[in-house]
Amino acid sequence: LAACGGSSESSSTSEGDGGSSGVQEMTIKISHVVAENTPKHQAALAMAKNIEENSDGKVKVQVYPNGQLFDDKTEVKNLQANNVQFIIPDMSKMVGMNPAFNVPSLPFMFSSNEAAYSFWDGEKGQEIFQSLESEGIIGLRMWPNGPKQITNTVRPIKAPEDLQGLKIRVQGGQVLASLFKTLDAGPLQLPFGQLYTALEQGTVDGQVNTFSNISTKKLGDVQKYITTNWGAARVDYAMLTNKEFWEGLNEETKKIVQAGIDHGTEVARSKAEQLNQEAFKKIKERGKMDIYELSAEERSVFQEALQPVYDEFREEIGADVIKAAKESSA
Ligand code: LMR
Repeated sequence: LAACGGSSESSSTSEGDGGSSGVQEMTIKISHVVAENTPKHQAALAMAKNIEENSDGKVKVQVYPNGQLFDDKTEVKNLQANNVQFIIPDMSKMVGMNPAFNVPSLPFMFSSNEAAYSFWDGEKGQEIFQSLESEGIIGLRMWPNGPKQITNTVRPIKAPEDLQGLKIRVQGGQVLASLFKTLDAGPLQLPFGQLYTALEQGTVDGQVNTFSNISTKKLGDVQKYITTNWGAARVDYAMLTNKEFWEGLNEETKKIVQAGIDHGTEVARSKAEQLNQEAFKKIKERGKMDIYELSAEERSVFQEALQPVYDEFREEIGADVIKAAKESSA
């Protein structure tokens, strides 16, 4: 088990025909774009360890963080090509395959991590995952990160009008872009790997992210202000695998890999909030950012201002999907 560097050793699933018995010997790759001390990486490591142990080392699992293997722009295609067996993208980067992956960006949709789990584990969430099968992808589970905070270099953001005219880097998806356009800011979509440089060079004034991503990428070195308790949108992940790879696993191997995924899911869900709080503490200790915490009242001003986003996307995302997501928070 290792968090890998740039090795290009190819993975092999050739032993398996899906029908033979005994655990298939193989090397599985997991790739993602964020740093080590994040919910996604910690969960991927836990999944890898669990699979290696339960397969007595027959299934080797390599975890590549920080976009070392593939970045945001290339990881989905490489999953489809089975060059990597698991990726865990931010759902807002999957909207091209199904607009319902915009749900975590719908303003103030989920009131908690638990509400998000309830939606993605429920009927509608599972349907959205299953829609990827026609693309050669199996959607497995939702892994959380958490609510987004706003950072920028220009001024403290206390109210919607403070965002006017600011260029804001967004992860992806029409909804997140519309959210900023509604507030008269200019959204610009950029891959995570280009974020630090874009902020440093002033390509954008600000960005929205979880404490964990802000702290582990030291965005406070290139951003002056952070507004907390915003949470209008979330970073949530889709744990995805290649369909052909998955269907090539025999029963015994699949059971072990599935148990590893379940374990990783538990780790992601039990650690996300804690890792974000630890990251917030680190941001405060570094003392580089001016922190402004929105009051409940100030937050509700954003909520009011962003309501039109729902009308804009109800049809495209599906009224049934939005209704189910809302019910998860009830
Ligand atoms: C981002 O691009 O800011 C995030 O989606 C990165 C991630 O995977 O958490």
